[in-house]
Amino acid sequence: MKYKRIKGTRDILPEESWKWQYLEQFITKILEQNNYNLVRTPVFEMTDLFTRSIGEETDVVSKEMYSFTDKSGKNLTLRPELTAPVIRMYIQNNLNQISPVIKLFYIDSLFRQERPQKGRYRQFHQFGFEIIGTPHPESDAEVIQTMVAIYTKLGIRDLKVKLNSIGSRDSRNKYLETLQSALEQHKTKFCSTCQDRMEKNILRLFDCKSQSCQDLLDEFAPPIIDSLSVEDREHFTQVQNFLKISGVDFEVDKKLVRGLDYYTRTTFEITSSLLGAQDAICGGGRYDHLVEDLGGQPTPAVGVACGMERLMLILDQIDTIPARKNKLVYFAVLGENAREKAFEILCKIRNRGVTAEMDFMRRSLKSQMRNAGKKEAHLVAIIGDNEIEENRIILKNMKLGKQQEVTVENIINEILKQLNEVEV
Ligand code: HAM
Repeated sequence: MKYKRIKGTRDILPEESWKWQYLEQFITKILEQNNYNLVRTPVFEMTDLFTRSIGEETDVVSKEMYSFTDKSGKNLTLRPELTAPVIRMYIQNNLNQISPVIKLFYIDSLFRQERPQKGRYRQFHQFGFEIIGTPHPESDAEVIQTMVAIYTKLGIRDLKVKLNSIGSRDSRNKYLETLQSALEQHKTKFCSTCQDRMEKNILRLFDCKSQSCQDLLDEFAPPIIDSLSVEDREHFTQVQNFLKISGVDFEVDKKLVRGLDYYTRTTFEITSSLLGAQDAICGGGRYDHLVEDLGGQPTPAVGVACGMERLMLILDQIDTIPARKNKLVYFAVLGENAREKAFEILCKIRNRGVTAEMDFMRRSLKSQMRNAGKKEAHLVAIIGDNEIEENRIILKNMKLGKQQEVTVENIINEILKQLNEVEV
């Protein structure tokens, strides 16, 4: 085989796709109950949308984007995240006119050229949701609480909610100066990327994967929380208050700044020990300036996104996705006339909402029966030329181990009746 899938991408095979469908439906149901509306955005956008929102010095923009120039010379990028595209859509379509606060969700694929490993891919999927239009702390709490509720309903117990506030833009600018002067004298001890980032965007030092840089930050960086304004502190206290009211346990993580530049005030991540090294199932926060930075009216917002592959890794371990309910009716066919009759019945029964399949290999009855067994068919209708002439079809109930003869006229009703009787 010459062609292989691209490194860092995955095929979702038939036996796995059921779980994805189940999960997507499960998430959609809960988010719709919370009055979020589904949106879809294009797979690619102008590169500048991501550079401006996520930030030039972030890992995502500086190392991981799939960018290309199209034939007309436009610089485009496969979306590495969905918050910026959703906000672009919000501004372009004047969604602020629908309602002052709008709640949107998405389930889609994204692209980041990261080093592939368990739970980290180059094409992956996220579901996420955004509340656009309110600065108030109960909306931050709702986003976190809703995500925790989804995980809990899926049976995940082993969760840690890490919460921080990185302050409004003004407090953060003050903090960046404090950080700069605290780290200046230790600059040469940091890795070369950190040294470069100290000049360009010092907050990004917290994203460094080198343990020695993280140790230096532990030792010398003042906590961002100490630089918060009175209003920022009040907002942070209120977010915690609403989380307590909703029964969500959390811990404050003073180093959690998140790897994207658009955040203000609340940042959070939810982790699970079942994930190993890539332990964040989801991450999010408030981004009160993104709408205006991308050309809209000043509009505060908050949101979160969850990595679906990571969620699936957890669900595979705790095994809480129910098995697919398969009520297959299999038509085993022998002979030309029988095939035509079987095809006619097959089309009719599918119109009645039954999952049905007919043998397409023109094999012996024995191998058709073996095939029906392999597919775990509930009922097998055996139709041969002789039987058609005698107006009878053998209907075998594989679950009950019984069989009976049914007339052609009665076959549909009998199948429907037996399917309802079968324990599934
Ligand atoms: P993020 O932290 O970059 O945030 O990604 C969110 C989640 O996507 C991560 O916690 C992880 O579960 C998953 N993820 C990220 N990269 C990969 C990868 N290479 N392979 C598999 N899963 C991955 C955002 O994307 C923000 N847009 C979240 C947000 C929404 N903030 C506000 N609203």
